[in-house]
Amino acid sequence: MRSKIIAGNWKMYTTPTEGDKLADELVASLKNMDLGNKKVIIIPPFLHIRSIASKFQGIADVSAGAQNCHQETEGAFTGEISAKMIKDAGAEYVIIGHSERRQYNHEDNELLYNKVRAVLDQGLTPIYCCGETLVQRENGIYFETVSSQISEGLFGLMPDMIGKVILAYEPVWAIGTGKTASPEQAQEIHAFLRNLLAGQYGKEIADNMIILYGGSVKPANAAELFGMKDIDGGLVGGAALKASDFIAIIQAA
Ligand code: PGA
Repeated sequence: MRSKIIAGNWKMYTTPTEGDKLADELVASLKNMDLGNKKVIIIPPFLHIRSIASKFQGIADVSAGAQNCHQETEGAFTGEISAKMIKDAGAEYVIIGHSERRQYNHEDNELLYNKVRAVLDQGLTPIYCCGETLVQRENGIYFETVSSQISEGLFGLMPDMIGKVILAYEPVWAIGTGKTASPEQAQEIHAFLRNLLAGQYGKEIADNMIILYGGSVKPANAAELFGMKDIDGGLVGGAALKASDFIAIIQAA
């Protein structure tokens, strides 16, 4: 059985001081919670990782992640952060290909493939994002869009490596807009992605793949979304910044 994962992407919100406070609030709730087969990942800005990862150290199934990394291990790349640094700081997961990075930093599938490789090379887990824009949805080309994001960004990986990746479907029109994909709309794409993986890597790998949904997940809609057959949890943005909301979403899973 696939475990459920609830990941909170803090984006460029919270100072290190505010981040510590939010993490302390989460620790206070999570240390008394029985997570069962659920895993929780907190993904703050880079600056916070070391401090926050140490706060979660003693709590089973709760870990820290990063929002991006550079594709090289080290080098003269001013302002960049490598997967090796992220690992040493105590994080275990790295988001790759979030739509905000695709849009504002012009990250394409080819570059993202190299970033996925860099994350895997360090023994960390990439959370690879895909999702269509509103225009792509309205033009009915959403299957094609996610299909090329997945095939170009991931299908160069050998079968023993793809199994280490987590996928996240995040329709761009649902991110930060308050508009959630309906559980049926999300399920349709999740099933499509699992099929795509089965075609490339076989049914067993596809069946074991964790596929998260992201885009305006809230306490009010989480249970319904996570109840769908192919939705294995969520990548939560805005609602991850308030401890009570994020805990309610974990409880809904
Ligand atoms: P949102 O963001 O929950 O604020 O829509 C999700 C994400 O971008 O990961």
